[in-house]
Amino acid sequence: SFSTVSMSPLEPNKKLNYEGIDAKLKQFRLHHNKPLTLAEKIIYGHLEDPSTKVERGVTYLKLHPDRVAMQDATAQMAVLQFMSAGLPETAVPTTIHCDHLIEAFKGGEKDLAVAKDINKEVYNFLATSAEKFGMGFWKPGSGIIHQIVLENYAFPGGLMIGTDSHTPNAGGLGMVAVGVGGADAVDVMAGIPWELKAPKIIGVKLTGSLKGWSSPKDVILRVADILTVKGGTGAIVEYFGSGVESLSCTGMATICNMGAEIGATTSLFPFNKRMVDYLNSTGRSNIANAANTFKHNLVADPNAHYDHLIEINLDTLEPYINGPFTPDLGHPLSKFAESVKANNWPAELKVGLIGSCTNSSYEDMSRSASVAQQALDKGITAKAKFTITPGSEQIRATIERDGQMKVLEKVGGVVLANACGPCIGQWKREDVPKGEKNSIITSYNRNFTGRNDSNVNTHAFVASPEIVTALTIAGDITFNPMTDYLTDKDGNKFKLNPPSGEELPSRGFDAGENTYQPPSPNGQNVKVDVDPNSSRLQLLQPFAPWDKKDLTDMQVLIKVQGKCTTDHISMAGPWLKYRGHLDNISNNMLIGAINSENGKANAVLNQFTGEVGPVPTVARDYKKRGVNWIVVGDENYGEGSSREHAALEPRHLGGKAILVKSFARIHETNLKKQGILPLTFDNPADYDKISGDDRISIIGLKDLAPGKQLTLIVKSAKQGSEFEIKVNQTMNAGQIEWFKAGSALNHIKSEKAK
Ligand code: F3S
Repeated sequence: SFSTVSMSPLEPNKKLNYEGIDAKLKQFRLHHNKPLTLAEKIIYGHLEDPSTKVERGVTYLKLHPDRVAMQDATAQMAVLQFMSAGLPETAVPTTIHCDHLIEAFKGGEKDLAVAKDINKEVYNFLATSAEKFGMGFWKPGSGIIHQIVLENYAFPGGLMIGTDSHTPNAGGLGMVAVGVGGADAVDVMAGIPWELKAPKIIGVKLTGSLKGWSSPKDVILRVADILTVKGGTGAIVEYFGSGVESLSCTGMATICNMGAEIGATTSLFPFNKRMVDYLNSTGRSNIANAANTFKHNLVADPNAHYDHLIEINLDTLEPYINGPFTPDLGHPLSKFAESVKANNWPAELKVGLIGSCTNSSYEDMSRSASVAQQALDKGITAKAKFTITPGSEQIRATIERDGQMKVLEKVGGVVLANACGPCIGQWKREDVPKGEKNSIITSYNRNFTGRNDSNVNTHAFVASPEIVTALTIAGDITFNPMTDYLTDKDGNKFKLNPPSGEELPSRGFDAGENTYQPPSPNGQNVKVDVDPNSSRLQLLQPFAPWDKKDLTDMQVLIKVQGKCTTDHISMAGPWLKYRGHLDNISNNMLIGAINSENGKANAVLNQFTGEVGPVPTVARDYKKRGVNWIVVGDENYGEGSSREHAALEPRHLGGKAILVKSFARIHETNLKKQGILPLTFDNPADYDKISGDDRISIIGLKDLAPGKQLTLIVKSAKQGSEFEIKVNQTMNAGQIEWFKAGSALNHIKSEKAK
């Protein structure tokens, strides 16, 4: 029986649920008589109700994921919210990973010490809450979330969500792993099913086998080039074909990781021998054996239908270099130098950066070191600066023991902390002044303008770690290691041989320093550490429940004109440091939205004082006066990210309803979760009838029911008149309970108390 096998060696009591998946799939197939893709098997095997009739791209599914992973930046608000549900522990195994808040400057050890000091209160909060609520906690220095998940938690056939876009990395071990916002993570941690629109499935058939300088990274660089940054939206990318066997498990993870760059829900690979090797070498032979027995559910059915099909022949796949400024601008290595000249991109390479969650496997480090060793043998070192980010403490310790690290250092590399570092802009870069035009190349996944060093003129290119290493040695991005020559210490020309290296350490992994904190067996006694004077963290107070009265005379706070994304509602950048402090971050509420009354951002008229002020200031004043307020908006309000702060902030500052022409769906759901009424005009032209100083009443809230229209009475301040409009809402019965309770978490709490 599978139920004796643990999902992870670190969680001996949480077992694989292969039997449950199998039973659900059998039921599902009773009314879906067609072959299924692998992604479908995994997803439908986690349905709350396997009798759901599913149409890809249409049906909203309610799913029960196996686990949750969070990084330290997004975990703060998620954990704060989870705490307000009043549950003793998370409903599914959950882990927190401290990787995003460490700035790269002087090298691993020193940078880590600085980060531990600066972020002390955040780390303490996350550590104590993890201990209390049964979550695994990975301390700063332990490594990057996706690498740690692959090493310890991912398993074939599993379904997980993670509060980070590159969660799909676990697809390299055959898991459906999806990046989500904090609100979704809170749901799953609180036992609420997770909602996902049934994805379309893009098939990528791989034939042939990788050789020479080509690597798994080049597969995804090529796929990104074909599909572009939008091409995977709403879809899962599923790889298959005879070429799969030529990819290592960590290589498959690289491909899935960077699938986030084409907007895909996730990417994944079928269960195969290379996954078995990886599971064996990371102490999980029992899972490998179970998966072997369960294999029929870990590969696609013959003749499964893909909505779109791509074929890539690995025999002829060249290395790719993508960029600058976008990951889908692909250049085959042989054409890259031409493009550099034609576009006048800086040919001199300033810095090469390898590692990150995308490309820091033992294989990546070994192959990069094999290139570096060739330079050392000829008596030369790297012309450009060179940094190495190990993905985990285990990788760091193992490449230190096995010598790759020494080689990379000798050639000029600086080993950074086991963390995101320059990949998320945590890089105190000093070699080039801000604003100067320059080129860098990384083995990371994302290269949007300014991402690494906040310099809009840094041309960031993305390639495999072995190509990055070769170009860094040359100090020139137009160098083609397959055809061009380097000069040795005596002035003689030489060519690099293609990289080589072990996929997995023959002596096994060295775990390195122990950086894992398990959940406490006596969680109830642990005190969660939040300093009441902190500017970065604040415990959440539950929102007030509905008072059973109609909402009358709500003041329009702002009538937003045109685009209003979650960035307009809750700006990122410098505000991110307050993401664990609702009151402080609320000072960015709607400051990017354009006020239709004056065409300006962050300037609205306070109807009581007659003064124009910032949106959050006016909202706070209304709240103090006990005046409810409403926002009026345009089409697709709240598009962009799943950031839950965009719903928490208006709720915190006294907002009761958001009335728009249409919503972006995730934001609409987030509003419902926080007890705000999301309303849409029945007649979109009514938007023009309302002005920014009107007052609005909602009539008949007591009869709020699924699908039922509501009537609003608008008191026009300018004309002194009153008129009625009809509005729609999409709350189901459960969501109406959230509204009544004041929020979804309040509702859970009161249900539990019953
Ligand atoms: Fe971190 Fe960059 Fe990956 S930010 S999680 S290393 S994409």
